[in-house]
Amino acid sequence: MVVANAVRMAHQFILPRLANARTVVDATAGNGNDTLFLAENTPDATTVFAFDIQQQGLSKTETLLTGRNLRHKVRLILDSHSHLNKYLHQQLDAVMFNLGYLPGSDHKLSTNPATTIEAAHQALQLLNIGGVMTIAVYPGYEHGRLECQAVYEYLAILNQKVFSVACWSMVNQKNNPPLLYVIEKIRSEPLEGITSLKD
Ligand SMILES: C[S@@+](CC[C@H](N)C(=O)[O-])C[C@H]1O[C@@H](n2cnc3c(N)ncnc32)[C@H](O)[C@@H]1O
Repeated sequence: MVVANAVRMAHQFILPRLANARTVVDATAGNGNDTLFLAENTPDATTVFAFDIQQQGLSKTETLLTGRNLRHKVRLILDSHSHLNKYLHQQLDAVMFNLGYLPGSDHKLSTNPATTIEAAHQALQLLNIGGVMTIAVYPGYEHGRLECQAVYEYLAILNQKVFSVACWSMVNQKNNPPLLYVIEKIRSEPLEGITSLKD
C-alpha cells in the first residue's frame, strides 16, 4: 500500500465497510470526490447522503456522479451536516467528514467546530455496529487547528466500550499535516454510551 495522506487513508479505512452497506454519508461533499468514492464502492441499492452548505460544491458533485452514471444512488442535500437527523433516521454503515474549506472558494464557508461536533454526535448515534466514521482534519492553519482540537476533545471522551477511536497521521511531514480520526462502533449499547453534548 502506498501511504499517502489522510484523505486516501480515510478511503482505506472505509472501503471494507462498503460491500454490504445500505446507507452511507458524505458529511462534506465539496468537489464530490468522497461522494464518488462511496457511490462507486457500494452496491447499487445503497443510498449515499451527501451534505454541503454550498450549491457550488453540490453542483460539482452532481456533475461528477452523472458522468459516472451514479447520480441515482446519491441524495444531495444543501444543508448543514448539523441537521443530519432531519434527513436520516436509519442505521448508517459509514460516515465521512473531510473538514475545512472547498479549495478555491470562500474560506469563511469552512466547517466549524460546533456544527462539526453536533453532526458527528448525531451520526454516531445512528452508526451500525461495525460501522466506521472518518474525520479528516487540517491543523496546518489556525481555524483548522482549533477545529482539530475541538474534535479531539469530543472524541477522547467517547465511551471506549462502545467506540474504538484512533488517530492516523504522518510523522515526518512539516507544517502540521492533516490528521485522520477513525471511529468504529464496536458494541451496541444504549445511547447513554455516548457522552451527551450537554454534559
Ligand atoms: C474540504 S471540503 C470537502 C472535500 C470533499 N469531500 C471532496 O471530496 O472534494 C469541505 C466542505 O465542507 C463544506 N461545509 C462547510 N461547513 C459545512 C456544514 N456545516 N455542513 C456541510 N458541509 C459543510 C464546505 O462547503 C466544503 O465544501
